[in-house]
Amino acid sequence: MLHYNTNSVKSWCSWLPLCLILFFVSGFFELAVAETHFHNFVVQAKSVKRLCNTHNIITVNGQYPGPTLELRNGDTLVAKVQNKAKYNVTIHWHGIRQMRTAWADGPEFVTQCPIRPGGTYTYRFTIQGQEGTLWWHAHSSWLRATVYGALIIHPKQGSSYPFPTIPKHEATILLGEWWNANPIDVINQARKTGAAPNISDAYTINGQPGDLYSCSSQDTVIIPVNSSETSLIRVINSALNQQLFFTIANHNLTVVAVDASYTKPFTTSVIMLGPGQTTDVLLTADQPPSRYYIAARAYASAQNAPFDNTTTTAILQYTNTNTSTSLKPLLPNLPAYNDTPTATAFTTRLRSPAKALVPATVDESLFFTVGLGLNPCSKGQTCQGPNGTRFTASMNNVSFVLPSTFSILQAHHQGVNGVFTVDFPAAPPLQFDYTGNVSRTLWSPVTGTKLYKLQYGSSVQIVLQGTSIFTTENHPVHLHGYDFYVVGEGFGNFNAKTDTAKFNLVDPPMRNTVGVPVGGWAVIRFVADNPGVWLMHCHLDVHITWGLATAFIVENGVGELQTLESPPLDLPQC
Ligand code: C2O
Repeated sequence: MLHYNTNSVKSWCSWLPLCLILFFVSGFFELAVAETHFHNFVVQAKSVKRLCNTHNIITVNGQYPGPTLELRNGDTLVAKVQNKAKYNVTIHWHGIRQMRTAWADGPEFVTQCPIRPGGTYTYRFTIQGQEGTLWWHAHSSWLRATVYGALIIHPKQGSSYPFPTIPKHEATILLGEWWNANPIDVINQARKTGAAPNISDAYTINGQPGDLYSCSSQDTVIIPVNSSETSLIRVINSALNQQLFFTIANHNLTVVAVDASYTKPFTTSVIMLGPGQTTDVLLTADQPPSRYYIAARAYASAQNAPFDNTTTTAILQYTNTNTSTSLKPLLPNLPAYNDTPTATAFTTRLRSPAKALVPATVDESLFFTVGLGLNPCSKGQTCQGPNGTRFTASMNNVSFVLPSTFSILQAHHQGVNGVFTVDFPAAPPLQFDYTGNVSRTLWSPVTGTKLYKLQYGSSVQIVLQGTSIFTTENHPVHLHGYDFYVVGEGFGNFNAKTDTAKFNLVDPPMRNTVGVPVGGWAVIRFVADNPGVWLMHCHLDVHITWGLATAFIVENGVGELQTLESPPLDLPQC
């Protein structure tokens, strides 16, 4: 049984006469009434069987994946998280802007100290101007391998989707990654040895690997559709460490949104999502009534790096006809694992629906390298990385270290010294041929909790430049607390002279996680209109572990609506 309760109240209706008037008025004018949704998240162990074996995993309310939260633009979410597991935990609401509520963002040691075993913390925030598909996940060690779920924001009451066809049905697909081991042990082992962590044993769709894995076919997920009707399918990449191609046999997918921002609709047979990213597609059941495989497998851009090359499937099943369940579904073609042209063709087709409010001028022009590295072995260390080294990763040659005695936001808010420094470089300390043959002397970054300070209200541009240190690789870079426009991407080294002229400042897509192309660059723009401390990191968890992160401090502006709210009284202390 699940201890899951949803308790929605009309927050305006605390006073009965006013409530009656509102109901009366809304009947005529379809007034959008914001609601407050209360949820209890009990983080607890649960035993589940996957790939022929039983494992004890950490869950929310015993569910895997965790509960789907559905609310409307304008609503407030209050989630009381109770930690009954043996690990520290925090919950992050991936893609929620958290306007002035950075205390509810969730990354451990960044905006809060972890909720210790036995502890409790209540997250409270309001959805402001966002619609679409997001998700929530643990933001502590590798707990998010099993602690995650969908967060769906419907349009306000009385308004609907701006789609060519209004869908009759909706389905959510959470792509995940499964280890036949405790994921916390997997990463702790890698931390100890300095080597890369073991690759996963399966990918999953809504927690199930599907027919192509042993002992799994009884539980393969079925997505029902009715002939000739259109469904909205929300696809979320919740895998820990792998970009994934996703497709459905014989059906076209019409892309209508990414990362809870609408796009100009376009039709494709395959989409690609990096961890953290979401894509909403419309699917019309226009094929002969039957069963068709929904499938996902790796887009693995790093050369010679081991990866999980298995394929997860679910079944798209036509229901309004006599579809025999013994009928073997049709398998789709998936791109080759290293098919970068297909990945690029997909991401470069994304556009905002109309003319976008892209900052035309830039106050802060930043250039951040993103990539891996190797540290030499020091005395007393185990060094099972390549040639007796230890893996590391960095931005602008800084490998990010989380503090342990205060969260950065608490230290910033209370003026505590010694927790972080505000000296993250605006550009690489040394310029080099980033995607060329990089000298070994540049492979080992410095460590530190270095932040970059942004003036409230400033227009920011960041060039995210991949490096070829150790290997080139696609990096899904996520920024907390913001959506940004992706104004350009390309391969090789970013060239300010020639590439700036090619920026799309008209209708670039808006996202919260951008895939920096393998051996290439991506450029993002946003306005720093949300005060707080905001982590930016590669959403491959193995890379965060190695330090591929930094954080921004956005100072308070002037006036009540430009300043960070006070910390909640139950904020955990370290
Ligand atoms: Cu979805 Cu910092 O993460």
